[in-house]
Amino acid sequence: MYYYPYVNRYLEFYKYSIENLENFWAFQASIIPWFKSWDKVLESNHPFYRWFVGGYLNASYVCLDHHVENNKKDKVAYYWENEVGEKEIISYYELYTRVNSFSKFLKDLGVQKGDVVLIYMPLIVDAIVAMLSVVRLGATHNVVFSGFSKNSIVDRIEDSNAKFIITATHTYRRGKKVDLLSTIKEIDSQSVQKVVVLDREGNFVEDGKFVKWPENLEFAYTEPVPVESTHPLFVLYTSGTTGKPKGIVHSTGGYLVYVACTLRWAFNVGDDSIWWCTADIGWITGHSYVVYAPLALGLTSFIYEGAPDYPDPSKWWSLIEKHRITEFFTSPTAIRMFMKYDLEFIRKHDLNSLRMLGSVGEPINPEVWEWYYKNIGKSKCPIIDTWWQTETGGFMIAPFMGIIPLRPGFASLPLPGILADVVDENGNSLPPNTKGYLVIKAPWPGMMMGILNDDEKYKQTYWSKFDGMYYPGDYAIRGEEGYFQLLGRADEVIKIAGHRLGTTEIESAILENDFVAEAAVVGVPDEVRGETVAAFVTLKQGINKDESLKQLIISKVREIVGPVVVFSSIFFVDKLPKTRSGKIMRRLLKSIIIGKELGDVTTLEEEASVEEIKKAYEEVKQSIS
Ligand code: WT7
Repeated sequence: MYYYPYVNRYLEFYKYSIENLENFWAFQASIIPWFKSWDKVLESNHPFYRWFVGGYLNASYVCLDHHVENNKKDKVAYYWENEVGEKEIISYYELYTRVNSFSKFLKDLGVQKGDVVLIYMPLIVDAIVAMLSVVRLGATHNVVFSGFSKNSIVDRIEDSNAKFIITATHTYRRGKKVDLLSTIKEIDSQSVQKVVVLDREGNFVEDGKFVKWPENLEFAYTEPVPVESTHPLFVLYTSGTTGKPKGIVHSTGGYLVYVACTLRWAFNVGDDSIWWCTADIGWITGHSYVVYAPLALGLTSFIYEGAPDYPDPSKWWSLIEKHRITEFFTSPTAIRMFMKYDLEFIRKHDLNSLRMLGSVGEPINPEVWEWYYKNIGKSKCPIIDTWWQTETGGFMIAPFMGIIPLRPGFASLPLPGILADVVDENGNSLPPNTKGYLVIKAPWPGMMMGILNDDEKYKQTYWSKFDGMYYPGDYAIRGEEGYFQLLGRADEVIKIAGHRLGTTEIESAILENDFVAEAAVVGVPDEVRGETVAAFVTLKQGINKDESLKQLIISKVREIVGPVVVFSSIFFVDKLPKTRSGKIMRRLLKSIIIGKELGDVTTLEEEASVEEIKKAYEEVKQSIS
């Protein structure tokens, strides 16, 4: 271990934060402007925690008006480009005017505090304008990733009771136009009163509910509606282990304080930063670190609508060179993809502007870490591996400003105010180097307020496994110096290219094929995407195990869940391994695929099914090789 004088300083700061939790966060909360200060820092009604209770603010004011009033009028908020060569440079003042005018338009349509507005848009400045305009009125947004399909949107509209949709005609991906509006048009929902459509090509025709996002709106100042700190800023759906995605609800005050603090703590960003977080706004990373944290801090960001390696693998690196990006934040999947290409694509670009590199969404393997460090960071940029979740709002474990010693594959130490531990099945702390469950033992301002319309599920999913501790569903190990290494999900959540999907969601979509009797899916390791899906399917009586059915299954899943689901293989089997109580043993299926010992099979109903699946799997493996 090297000698780093800062480590002790950090540990002191950390210790102070934990021992004075409420005071610590009260002090940090001034990172954003409040209309009215809070009466109480934290109100605990376990497991419901409310931060800065009695405080009032408005997220759009925090992100825009505040900077316009404080000499940042002309500072660039976003540089934007896309793969068809369109560009925008937008200052804080321009963003402010666009948001004000669009807010006025939404207000006239009837959007008000308490409403949920669904946003289905690509990564363009207007999408950010839409988000901020919604929250300016005190309404709550529900952004749905543009890679999700119709059924996912319908489920979300129903669950969140969204009254309005804001969408765009299309997006671009690898030289193709991807239609978004036709997806929205297929939806027949009573609760939706109006759909606002951004017309990107000038051929959209208004029709009934479908109204056009007006071009060249005249500036109209729209008062930001002061909301309580605990007012829901947004709801964002994420997959769990059972059934439909859960609507994770985030607060306004605690969330904004938390994302602003954590972005500064993790990446040491400042006024001269040109920050590039490659996430889409449809995910929490986009919400927190493309929109709210950079804007709350008054930073300049770059955003890009398009694929990383289109038209060729030098695209991203040329953008870093061109925009003089200082901090770059992406996923291990993206890095693994670039590792497969010729290094020339990188070497021909000057990446000297980079100071920090980040990683998020899945464990980053040490080889990938080293490659990223050497080839992108030229061995001079700390790699900030950030562990967190949709539910946590912002980074939880990450090497503070890169000043503590870095270790490939380790997300390192918890950020200030975060009390993390690794425990065994009974909730007891584990000694170093022992695999266990990651838990968080104290509340933090960025934590979700709950699951929309489902307090029971909130309690049961996150707070029932261990008494009094937040359970994220991840395995972890603590190294010698207390360093955390994240080891992936402990439940049946599958992470494809960092995108979170539940087994039940995919299985239900497979079952929509009327020739399918039963289905079980498991995540299998994939060199680039981290994981992909292997499906085990039994067919209804009289149906032949025809290869062409596999294509139908894939199409159905893409239609229902979306193109985010990637299959490695589909196996037709006669039986699925089940416990005596009838639960499918996905663990066994996974072991077969990754060639692991099967472990305890005593609860298995019929051992023959395992033999059969193994055989089917072997046959498929042989036919491939
Ligand atoms: C799950 C949360 C966090 C924003 C993007 C994903 C996994 C996330 C890391 C990391 C290892 C990670 C965990 C977590 N994960 N970051 N740095 N190292 N695993 O958010 O879709 O809510 O997924 O992603 O398994 O529970 P999400």
